[in-house]
Amino acid sequence: MRTDTGKTVFLKDYAPTPYRAPHTSLMFALHPTRTVVRATTLYEPVGGGPLELAGDGLSLMAAELDGAPLDESAYEATPDRFVLKAPPAEPFALTLVTVVSPDDNTELMGLYRSNGVYCTQCEAEGYRRITYAYDRPDVLSVYDVFVVSDAEGEQVLLSNGNLVDRKVSGGRLTAHWHDPFPKPTYLFALVAGDLGAVTDEFTTMSGRKVELNIYVERGKEPRATYAMDALKRSMVWDETRFGREYDLDVFNIVAVSDFNMGAMENKGLNVFNDRYVLADPDVATDQDYAGIETVIAHEYFHNWTGNRITCRDWFQLCLKEGLTVFRDQEFTSDERSRGVKRIADVRRLRAAQFPEDASPLRHCVRPNRYDEISNLYTSTVYDKGAELIRMIHTMIGEPRFRAGMDDYFARFDGTAATVEDFIGCFSIPDPGAFMRWYEEPGTPRVKVAEAFKDGRYTLELTQVPAEGASVKPIPVRLALLTDTGAIDPAKATVTGGEIGTGHIVLTDRVTVTVNRLNAAPIASVMRGFSAPVTIERAPDEARDLTLIAKDDDPFTVWDAVQRLALSAMQARYDGAAIDETPLAAALGTLAANAGHEPAFRALALILPTRQALIEAIGQNVDPDRVDTAHQGLGASLGEKMRDVLARLHGAPLPPADDVSADAAGQRALRNAAMQLLASAGDTGRAMAQAKNATSMTDRLAALGALAFTNAGEADEALATFAREYDHEPLVLDKYFAMEAMRPDAEALDRVRRLMEHPKFSLKTPNRVRSLIGAFAQNVAAFHRADGSGYRLVAEVAKSLDKSNPQVAARLLTSFSDVRRFDAPRREAAADVLADVLQTATSSDVVDIARRLTAK
Ligand code: PHE
Ligand code: ZN
Repeated sequence: MRTDTGKTVFLKDYAPTPYRAPHTSLMFALHPTRTVVRATTLYEPVGGGPLELAGDGLSLMAAELDGAPLDESAYEATPDRFVLKAPPAEPFALTLVTVVSPDDNTELMGLYRSNGVYCTQCEAEGYRRITYAYDRPDVLSVYDVFVVSDAEGEQVLLSNGNLVDRKVSGGRLTAHWHDPFPKPTYLFALVAGDLGAVTDEFTTMSGRKVELNIYVERGKEPRATYAMDALKRSMVWDETRFGREYDLDVFNIVAVSDFNMGAMENKGLNVFNDRYVLADPDVATDQDYAGIETVIAHEYFHNWTGNRITCRDWFQLCLKEGLTVFRDQEFTSDERSRGVKRIADVRRLRAAQFPEDASPLRHCVRPNRYDEISNLYTSTVYDKGAELIRMIHTMIGEPRFRAGMDDYFARFDGTAATVEDFIGCFSIPDPGAFMRWYEEPGTPRVKVAEAFKDGRYTLELTQVPAEGASVKPIPVRLALLTDTGAIDPAKATVTGGEIGTGHIVLTDRVTVTVNRLNAAPIASVMRGFSAPVTIERAPDEARDLTLIAKDDDPFTVWDAVQRLALSAMQARYDGAAIDETPLAAALGTLAANAGHEPAFRALALILPTRQALIEAIGQNVDPDRVDTAHQGLGASLGEKMRDVLARLHGAPLPPADDVSADAAGQRALRNAAMQLLASAGDTGRAMAQAKNATSMTDRLAALGALAFTNAGEADEALATFAREYDHEPLVLDKYFAMEAMRPDAEALDRVRRLMEHPKFSLKTPNRVRSLIGAFAQNVAAFHRADGSGYRLVAEVAKSLDKSNPQVAARLLTSFSDVRRFDAPRREAAADVLADVLQTATSSDVVDIARRLTAK
């Protein structure tokens, strides 16, 4: 295991390696505890000097140079390093033989076994747990891989690229894979096991046939058909929207149950957390289906943005991740609904990225230093990274964006690129200024001020940078609405900002003026959420009600609902409840409006999160009052909208096996209505639905309606559910998560009890996240005044520090908003974190604990 080395890596120290590694040949003789890895790498000197390779906990069995054993004096080998002291001046082949134990690999990095299946995870630095290498993304190699198992043993033997040969000889089965595309170590993968598969075929736009396989646990094949469908749609979409064609003869996906992250884009052999592959309506919700579609697409799109063009170093992580998230968002927008997808993405950004960007864990989209790279797979890199791409798209428009992408692919295919390389392909007005988005943390604010006098309307937008940051170009999409439609932009005078098509680029301050008006227009600002900023605007209920009724931008309508609901919630928190009737009326009309998509109406009915309220309050937050305010508003709106909601919940139910976005939207709307009704005490419907539901979506929504309103029936309904699905890990995860998030006083004891459940295990990341991760989202329970919630999470993090530090570090990030709470809580958390910092040994946990406790 890698222990904290206290080493900080800096962007400014980047230097290429003194050797290239154009070819790598790997031979794996698989064994659960003694897998022998024979790696022969061809090295070509560029600069010369010692060859220094990275390892992580390795033991070297043999070393050869050009086929002859190396004298021990010629090299130095420790578990973490191999140095060939004086390499030849000509290209040479270095063979290193290492032995690893997949069964003892609890970190799930490098080669491990999940449910008996051998698999690898190499991003970011897992390859060095298999063999010594230049384990960095700018060293690209063509791989030949020989996977060897017992002839009677594992039959599915996979690696990257195309299958060259498969044969049995001397009681051994060998598969030889060749990947013609040079790739860095982090994209290497191997899978071996006894697996079932669904198989299909895809013909690319140039007419090449590609074999598609999704491998899953035997017997679960029928659950992989939706993923296969999503894959084929992704392949078509990347051809039509970006002109990108698949480039190998086969594309393999494997689902495993023990995986630290969502999925991994290894060239030609994607490895997935099984929750992003397996689905049927009995076990998966509509949300799960949407998640599968997104992640399948995301990993597939990496084939071009990540694999064909990779990153020069890990500081450039957003180059592949932000861009690929943008691409998967666009895919979902095109396949489902653009407006609904945009709202879902903004919710996620506000729930995860904005808080992160204001916390002690904040960092730039392209950081300039890190202590532990695994901790940089964050919402900032992924989601804010995608927002930066989206701003470029907004500023130059689709045709020029596509041209820029074409240019990027043409110029950088086969290379390891930087953010600057990418930005240089786009004709944005001031690239230098735009780069600040990558180089400075924090969320900028945009202040909106309006005035109307003598028929003259002015709107002033002012940028307020985050602390310590500078002014950046912000595309603002704007419409001025009147009774007779939107004002023609040609009639407006804009000063201080550049006008683009459909947007204004704000730097310091922009003023928009319109003369000769009878009444002040209603400004719809930041339409489509055109930039990742917070909008500051004087509260004005009448204006927001008008936007809800009249605006045609789904985001700004939804945002107006959120704004009104949040201020109602905040008023409740402050003990000064306001009249919620106008909000209920507007919301009721919106929800009942058949002219809007059901999925959009459902989103409007979902209250702002407790997290949103906590941020609005800002400091000295009382978590119990947060709960009361949240539940109180739900009860009040449910009561006031009872009739509309009852009608919505009574709408016809689409067939359970219709998992289209449309059917999902209809179910979402019914269930959002049911949730609000349950908040207002009407739990009978939820009870009935929990019993009679025909889909997991409806079943879970009903259980949620009971659990999240502390209904008396919740205990029994959940217990029945747990018994019924005891043999379905992914459903059991939902059960654990729901129990952990119930907003009642028992939550902590319940979680402690569930940690003793026979099916709870610290070894499966999904299970840890479902129980402990969910508990850390339970505001009142995690932030208990006595510190017991903090201690529980810290305890788990401390035990995982030894066995799976990545998951441990991820859990600890929940502590980042403790500073919003009162002094006793902050002190309790500080004590707990100080203890973690003192006892932790992994670089992952030490890094997070250190940043969280830094003064
Ligand atoms: N690169 C993966 C993705 O975004 C995420 C990942 C990172 C998976 C690190 C495993 C390890 O698709
Ligand atoms: Zn990714």
